[in-house]
Amino acid sequence: MYLIKGTEVAEKVLEECKRDIAELAAQGRRPGLAVVLIGDDPASRAYVRSKDRKCRELGLHSVKLELPATTTQAELLDEIAKLNSDPVIHGILVQSPPPKHIDEAAIVRAIDPRKDVDGFHPVNVAKLALEDPTGFVPCTPLGCQRLLLEAGVETSGANVVVLGRSMIVGKPMALLLMAKGRGGDATVTVAHSRTKNLVEVTRRADIIIAAIGRPHFLKADMVREGVVVIDVGINRVDDPANDKGYKLVGDVAFDEVAPKCRAITPVPGGVGPMTIAMLMANTVKACRMIKGKAS
Ligand code: GUN
Repeated sequence: MYLIKGTEVAEKVLEECKRDIAELAAQGRRPGLAVVLIGDDPASRAYVRSKDRKCRELGLHSVKLELPATTTQAELLDEIAKLNSDPVIHGILVQSPPPKHIDEAAIVRAIDPRKDVDGFHPVNVAKLALEDPTGFVPCTPLGCQRLLLEAGVETSGANVVVLGRSMIVGKPMALLLMAKGRGGDATVTVAHSRTKNLVEVTRRADIIIAAIGRPHFLKADMVREGVVVIDVGINRVDDPANDKGYKLVGDVAFDEVAPKCRAITPVPGGVGPMTIAMLMANTVKACRMIKGKAS
């Protein structure tokens, strides 16, 4: 069994970003990312903090906007409009999920698609479906694809099962893997909570992308020998032995599934660091693509 080390692959992506950032700096340009957090969900707060920290490490311009849970839809739209027209900001990310009273779809649509480094705007969703490389692909699926490429896992002709149909991971993951070319050309099945005979489906898979958000969901009897498993799950489960009172576990019952795998990602240290690295890469891409005033 080969352990796919996301932390190492993420470092490689970040090194590529550093080269690109130096190139842009030579032209007097500096990529800038704005991360917007509404409310005080502890997990979201932790993600936003690590995104901001990574930006600073790389020398990107970083703006962290922390808005109270009582922020109205109109106030949030106003902030987005300001960021859309701010020339030093090339990427805008609104941490999901926002509080219940916020219409997330409307917020996503309000972001300038050229600054939508999350790849959630309808224009970018369409570009992914159309295989138009000028669009932005959501960071987590992009990171999963890169992990497969770096681990030398052939996707062409492979039976891939994506567990989960979310807009953030499942759907874009399926589109990426079925696209023509390197890292694509797969035969993709998207399974979800209503899928019949799930075990029969997952046991046929050469590659499984687990993105359902349920701790230890994928068990050993659901996979065949020699499968490749990418675990997208980051679930907080109670752990009195841990100082924080919780620990992070994936969607895969790692201990029992790993021995059957050709390759598998751990949690933590698998997909997580890749998501942030791809966000940095998308921000650099946004800066490159936005023409006009040097910033
Ligand atoms: N929440 C969980 N993953 C993501 C992500 O990739 N982007 C945003 N904006 N929110 C998230």
